[in-house]
Amino acid sequence: MTRKQATIAVRSGLNNDEQFGCVVPPITLSSTYNFTDFNQPRAHDYSRRGNPTRDVVQRALAELEGGAGAVMTSSGMSAIHLVCTVFLKPGDLLVAPHDCYGGSYRLFESQSRRGAYRVQFVDQANPQALAAKSKLVLIETPSNPLLRVVDIAAICRDAHQAGALCVVDNTFMSPALQQPLALGADLVVHSCTKYLNGHSDVVAGAVIANEADVATELAWWDNNIGVTGSAFDSYLLLRGIRTLTPRIRQQQSNAQAIVAYLQQHPQVKKLYYPGLPENPGHAIACRQQSGFGAMLSFELDGDETTLRRFLAALELFTLAESLGGVESLISHAATMTHAGMAAEARVRAGIGETLLRVSVGIEESEDLIADLEQAFQAALQR
Ligand SMILES: Cc1ncc(COP(=O)(O)O)c(C=O)c1O
Repeated sequence: MTRKQATIAVRSGLNNDEQFGCVVPPITLSSTYNFTDFNQPRAHDYSRRGNPTRDVVQRALAELEGGAGAVMTSSGMSAIHLVCTVFLKPGDLLVAPHDCYGGSYRLFESQSRRGAYRVQFVDQANPQALAAKSKLVLIETPSNPLLRVVDIAAICRDAHQAGALCVVDNTFMSPALQQPLALGADLVVHSCTKYLNGHSDVVAGAVIANEADVATELAWWDNNIGVTGSAFDSYLLLRGIRTLTPRIRQQQSNAQAIVAYLQQHPQVKKLYYPGLPENPGHAIACRQQSGFGAMLSFELDGDETTLRRFLAALELFTLAESLGGVESLISHAATMTHAGMAAEARVRAGIGETLLRVSVGIEESEDLIADLEQAFQAALQR
């Protein structure tokens, strides 16, 4: 987590209102803008195409990721769909991780079934996995829900040699912890719904490009398809971004305390966190991330009854999907985030029936650990 990043985040869009000198940029809700005269539009004419509040957050996103430009979209999925629409034609090959976010998996599979493009799912931890003749390579690291880390710089190098563009889904890390463009990626996508907004009250996405003309093309398609983010969501996202670094600092420090506690717990069968030296991706994570993040997963020792008792007893962790908010959430992969995956595919991917994913919030770590402890004890009771 760099000091520069923290300052950029806090200062996102401050003091750029020339009309009233507002320190915090105002929200512009108008859908339309008057022309100054016949055939004389202003900088904005219609809010799907351009909106002053969205402009501010787009500039902040580009600066945070070190990109030349950014576009905001209505959701993380529309950001991913936008990238595929712009860069893939029928017959083109998209290479994606076999353990990518379930919604991305569903999008790629359904689009390839209708001939929009071809897709190949590969294990990106295997250096031979990158298909030749690919047009676009998607990287997701750390992955969901097992937090596998892959080497962004190495995959980008191979992808570029194959003539492909590389896009990194940076949702799990945020620009506070990982900056894929500096590692060689061409594009970054985000579900801003997660850490960037951080308060679980906005659904939004973003694409950040390392070249200005690519950002311009993305903006053209963002408007053309009509998936641009709303003014209100832009305003909330901008407000969320201001506290990105202190939130992540606190979340990560809590996650580390919880990992230390779970590591020695007899009811934890397996623990997944890139900060653990025995984690296969640890060395890469040390190189390419500036922190290990606040997501962790563990397998509870026991059966479905144990699992039900454990989850029912939790008071501070909410049983819910999504991640990256200030509140701690816990989700069960097999019945929630990965329910759409066939049971055999889950086994192949290493997702056990008692695997729980935790998105650690900013509560006091002692309280979170005490809550887990009483739930572990409740899970043992007959
Ligand atoms: C890694 C990742 N990418 C993309 C998405 C999709 O984002 P959204 O729900 O904002 O459409 C998610 C959602 O959980 C995600 O976890």
